[in-house]
Amino acid sequence: MIIAPSLLAADYGKLVDECHRIDASGADWFHLDIMDGNFVPNISFGPAMVETMRPHTKCFFDVHLMCLKPEILFEAFVRAGAQSMTIHVELGDRVGEMIERIRGFGVKVGLAVNPPTDIELVRPWLGMVDLVLVMTVNPGFGGQKFMGECVRKIEEVYRWKRESGFGFHIQVDGGIVMETAEICAGAGADNFVSGTGLMKSADLGSAVREMRRRVEAAGVALE
Ligand code: DX5
Ligand code: ZN
Repeated sequence: MIIAPSLLAADYGKLVDECHRIDASGADWFHLDIMDGNFVPNISFGPAMVETMRPHTKCFFDVHLMCLKPEILFEAFVRAGAQSMTIHVELGDRVGEMIERIRGFGVKVGLAVNPPTDIELVRPWLGMVDLVLVMTVNPGFGGQKFMGECVRKIEEVYRWKRESGFGFHIQVDGGIVMETAEICAGAGADNFVSGTGLMKSADLGSAVREMRRRVEAAGVALE
């Protein structure tokens, strides 16, 4: 099970300290939300900030590109230290080419799906990706309420994973706190992004340990 605190909920005035806090917490991945003010109605940060943080943590850098034209940013994020880049299936017929391009940089590739989008759209790409991100809120902002109707999509993707034997992660993102992480683990998720749920905790290490314990106990994706 992968626990991935999201930088979106960090204290931006203390970014280096936040990197150290995440490192010391025992978290596996560091989730970096990139918003372009077009694909989503918000703007977050860019490659320069990722590069600034890179030397201050050993965590795996998981870049989530909520962008209309993510391809213009791939190279800059790889140079900045991205180890995985996730694009959205809502980009339509450009998805296949973008997956190939990300793969060409030698980093992992993720494909995300928004709550209103048909989960069938990710199916053709399952053999080409390392991660399927089932969004459990409409992307753009941290601190939103988990959308329970997305759980059946996690179950469906997990069923496809079992049937196909493909090894991709099933990641969930949006409103993930202890209880919702457990629900997603029970549906087949193995990779848990949490902004508010983890980063706002006074003791990040114990929150990460607690989330890990709970998803391991509730998880079906262990075999
Ligand atoms: C939402 C982002 C998330 C965000 C989650 O648009 O993709 O990664 O950081 O924040 P919480 O965990 O607060 O819902
Ligand atoms: Zn995200």
